[in-house]
Amino acid sequence: EGHFEGKVTVRARDEIGALANAFNVMTDRLKATVEGLRRSEENYRGIYENALEGMWRVSRDGRVLSANPAMARVLGYATPEELMASVTDIGRQLYVRPQERDALLLAYGRGTAIEGRECEFYRKDGQRIWVLTSGRPVHDDSGQFLFAEGFVTDITRRKRAEEELRRSAAYVTAAQPLSRTGSFGWHVSSGTIYWSDETFRIFQCDRASVPTVELILERTHPQDRAFVQHVIDQARQKRTDFDCEHRLLLPDGSVRYLHVVADALEKTESGELEFVGAVMDVTERKRAEEALHQTQAELAHVSRVTTLGELVASIAHETNQPLAAIVADANASLNRLMASTPDLEEVRDALGAIVADAHRAGDVIHRIRQLARKTDPCRAPLDLNDVIRGVVPLILAEARHHQVSLRVELAAALPHVLGDRVQLQQVIINLVINGVEALAPVTDRPRELVIRSRAHTDDEVLVAVEDAGVGIDVTKAARLFDAFFTTKPGGMGMGLSISRSIIERHGGRLWATPNPTHGTTFHFTLPGMNTTSSALS
Ligand SMILES: Nc1ncnc2c1ncn2[C@@H]1O[C@H](COP(=O)(O)OP(=O)(O)OP(=O)(O)O)[C@@H](O)[C@H]1O
Ligand SMILES: [Mg+2]
Repeated sequence: EGHFEGKVTVRARDEIGALANAFNVMTDRLKATVEGLRRSEENYRGIYENALEGMWRVSRDGRVLSANPAMARVLGYATPEELMASVTDIGRQLYVRPQERDALLLAYGRGTAIEGRECEFYRKDGQRIWVLTSGRPVHDDSGQFLFAEGFVTDITRRKRAEEELRRSAAYVTAAQPLSRTGSFGWHVSSGTIYWSDETFRIFQCDRASVPTVELILERTHPQDRAFVQHVIDQARQKRTDFDCEHRLLLPDGSVRYLHVVADALEKTESGELEFVGAVMDVTERKRAEEALHQTQAELAHVSRVTTLGELVASIAHETNQPLAAIVADANASLNRLMASTPDLEEVRDALGAIVADAHRAGDVIHRIRQLARKTDPCRAPLDLNDVIRGVVPLILAEARHHQVSLRVELAAALPHVLGDRVQLQQVIINLVINGVEALAPVTDRPRELVIRSRAHTDDEVLVAVEDAGVGIDVTKAARLFDAFFTTKPGGMGMGLSISRSIIERHGGRLWATPNPTHGTTFHFTLPGMNTTSSALS
């Protein structure tokens, strides 16, 4: 047994001597072979002992015949010996689903090797783990199944991550139709666009169709196509996030409103650009907003007509003056014409005055009709000074009627604003009437009211209506702009509430501040034209 060190001493050159020589040579060779075998066994043992994969050999009846330290570690045992001693029924003790082992045994019985099967195992402490196992059957010369052997890797972390990913993907997929939100990815250089199921539904496209920029434009409302093309071009060039709203005109003829947001993701290594984003169908919200605007516009109209009703007395009084003057001038002219030598010069002057007075009266009536008419709100570029001048003839009457002196101080060259002339005039009238009413009880100082316009910040225009009236009770200040809040016996409490909603719909603000001495100033700002963005309007 391995004693290769001894040598036969060769004493003679005869036959025995030759035999002894041959024997010695044989011993040397054997020694070399055994040495080689030992080294190779050591090599393999090293791999077996130190491998990161679990290696196993199991019997048909469910015992572990051999296992390496990694195998024991994966299953939570201290040593392979402990594993081999503890597990006597692999199917029941290790497999979470024993029928999986039955299936594997059946395959081994047929001589089939199994590659990369994922199974769930119990560890020694009962904890469940996922393993990836590969194995093959080993048979004896007569074809008798001896045992199976193979590898095991712990893939629990990968499985959990997959599970997590699957679950969150499932949640996203389920949530998208609920929120009417689809997602998309756009790989710019290749032009590849990815759509989620919900995005396909929103665009009314077949799941089999390939999303492209052309397809998106085709589905876009014709009036919004240029805008969408512009957004896409900008995104491509500027490589920045985008956020826009536009309409779709779908194959079934319906119009839907979309809100699209996307983040630009730039791959640092390759410099490639990808957008990831969401498309929300905001049609219902848009329709509700439109209905609300419609209602607000109708309310504003009713309130405007009511206000005009209040102004009627003073306007009638005011227009009575030119009418009376017209009558007087006409009578005087008639008398002069009946004289034997009529002074035609005087008659011409009187007729000129008649024409001017008739224009004055006609102008006021024209303005009242404009304010009273029921028109849909419409936006146009406006000079706020012009808007103010337009209402002065009407409110001047009211001011005079209540012995209030009205001053108008307009800044030169204001930026234009985008707005509805009639609605903005309504706001000014509301503020002026409030001011006149706040001045009514004042007897100890001049009843003064000032309307001012000026540029506010770089890109805003401000209008202020300042009165020297009774001022605002601080305890009520917070409620001024509430609907139906009034301190006046005949008041409806709608003036400020309607005015604020008009200004806010124009993208501006309306607020009040107490004056240092007496009374209150109401201010409103509107964005200047150069800053008004109008994606949809
Ligand atoms: N310039 C002002 N000075 C003092 N108080 C004011 C002034 N403007 C408004 N207020 C207070 O705010 C309240 C609400 O004003 P708002 O214009 O909304 O309603 P109203 O004038 O009472 O009624 P209406 O609907 O006819 O305008 C007023 O009742 C008044 O108490
Ligand atoms: Mg009012």
